[in-house]
Formats: sequence, C-alpha cells, structure tokens
Amino acid sequence: MPEPSPEPSDPRQYRPHVARNREPILAVLARVLPPRGLVLEIASGSGEHVAYFAARLPALSWQPSDPDPQALASIAAHRAASGAPNLLVPLHLDVTASAWPVERADVVMCCNMIHIAPWTACEGLIAGAERTLPAGGLLYLYGPYTIDGRHTAPSNEAFDRQLKSQNAAWGIRDLAEVTALAKRHHFALAETVPMPANNFSVIFRRGAQQGPSALARVRSTLRFASRFRDAERALRRYCDGLRLRQTRGAGDFDWT
Ligand SMILES: C[S@@+](CC[C@H](N)C(=O)[O-])C[C@H]1O[C@@H](n2cnc3c(N)ncnc32)[C@H](O)[C@@H]1O
Repeated sequence: MPEPSPEPSDPRQYRPHVARNREPILAVLARVLPPRGLVLEIASGSGEHVAYFAARLPALSWQPSDPDPQALASIAAHRAASGAPNLLVPLHLDVTASAWPVERADVVMCCNMIHIAPWTACEGLIAGAERTLPAGGLLYLYGPYTIDGRHTAPSNEAFDRQLKSQNAAWGIRDLAEVTALAKRHHFALAETVPMPANNFSVIFRRGAQQGPSALARVRSTLRFASRFRDAERALRRYCDGLRLRQTRGAGDFDWT
C-alpha cells in the first residue's frame, strides 16, 4: 500500500525501502531481542522503522536518535502519529561523540548507516555500543556488506560505486573488518542472517567486561606485596638499631 503523502508542513519523511524491509527486520528482531528493556536506535532517519517496531514489540522501550535536525523532526512526527507509549522522544546522537546522551541500553540497533558515513562512524558506533551495553547486550546492524572483499550482488557493487562517487569515505563495509573491529571492543559475532535485497542482519553480543590480563594481575599483586617487604625491611633496620643502642648500654631508647 503506498504511504500517505505528507502535507507540506508535515515533517514526516517516508522512505520506500523501509516499507519493503521493515517486516523481514521485525521477524529477526522479534526472535533475537530480549523480552523487555531499552532498545537504542542509532541513525533512525525518517523514524518509520522505530515507530513500526515500537508498535509491534510493546514490552520494549524504544529510544530513537539521529544527528540530523530534519530526521529528528520526522521521527518526532512519526512518534506523535503512532501514539505508542513505549516510543521515547528522539535524541540528538552523533555516534562519533565520545559520550552519548544514553548511558545504558539493553540493545543498540543501527540500520543502513555504516556504509553511508565515513569509517569513523562505524568506529564510533561500536565504541559507543561497548560503553552503553552490559555484558550479554546485543548490537544489531542491518545493511549491505561485502564478504571476504566480494560484493554479494552486482546491484550492491553498483550501489557501492555510487556511494563512493558521492563521498570517497563512504562505501559498503566488509563483514570481516566490521567483525574484527567489534571483537576489539569485546563483541562476539552471534549471527549473520541473509535478508532480502542482498542485505544482512548482523548480530553481535557483548562479552563480559575485560579486566586486566592475568600477567597484569600478577604484577599488581607483586607490587602490592613489595610494599610490605619494604616496610618489613625498614622495621627490621629500626629494630636492629634499637638492639645496637641497648647492647652499647644506651639505656632508654633514643626516639629522635
Ligand atoms: C540512509 S539513512 C538510514 C536511516 C534509517 N536507519 C533507515 O534504515 O532508513 C542514514 C542515517 O545515518 C545518519 N547518520 C549519518 N552520520 C551519522 C553519525 N555520525 N551518527 C549518527 N547517525 C548518523 C543520518 O543522519 C541518516 O539519518
């Protein structure tokens, strides 16, 4: 069914790809998301995805975000039209910022951003997801990828060329590179789901907080123990000094 065309004053944006991909994405989300908790959507764009998902997965709270003011206006208008109580007010969030306006979420999801932004955006997204998610939290990515450096379809190759002609820093990312980056931020690849139109759902799970390595822990214990050894040596030297003075007949201790 065609989407309604908004009034000129209506900031709601409608993207044709959203109407095509929201059901297959929802099917994956319904299977992998936790039953309750906060889903932080990065790069919400028009806001159609988040409005659709929030209405269909009402036990979860949905936090949309985007750095673009027109996108924020569109998301807010879709939110108002949906009336979903679990859909929160959209936030300005640029993934490359060193702090995000949401400090804790159970899921971070991002559709169609990392190939339409410089690689630093992918780095920011994964670093921010690491800061925001607890151990076991999900990072869900959706979009096209190359696999081992190869495009999965001629249409993706043409799309990649078009992206790079628009901005040399953009382009379809390689799944192995994204996975390696995620691993450096303590995410394990849980699942890759082929989606319609040569896209993938890529699901990472955040591992436990990494403490210092075993070697670092041994070193720190030794450093701690050496403080006692130093104190013990100093005490021995002091007691030896006292005994010496007593044997020399100094009598009372000299405390100075
Ligand atoms: C192609 S749209 C995707 C929108 C929506 N997720 C979808 O699938 O229809 C890309 C979005 O990424 C956002 N974006 C670009 N750079 C970003 C950044 N550094 N941090 C967060 N979002 C960013 C843009 O504002 C835009 O809304």
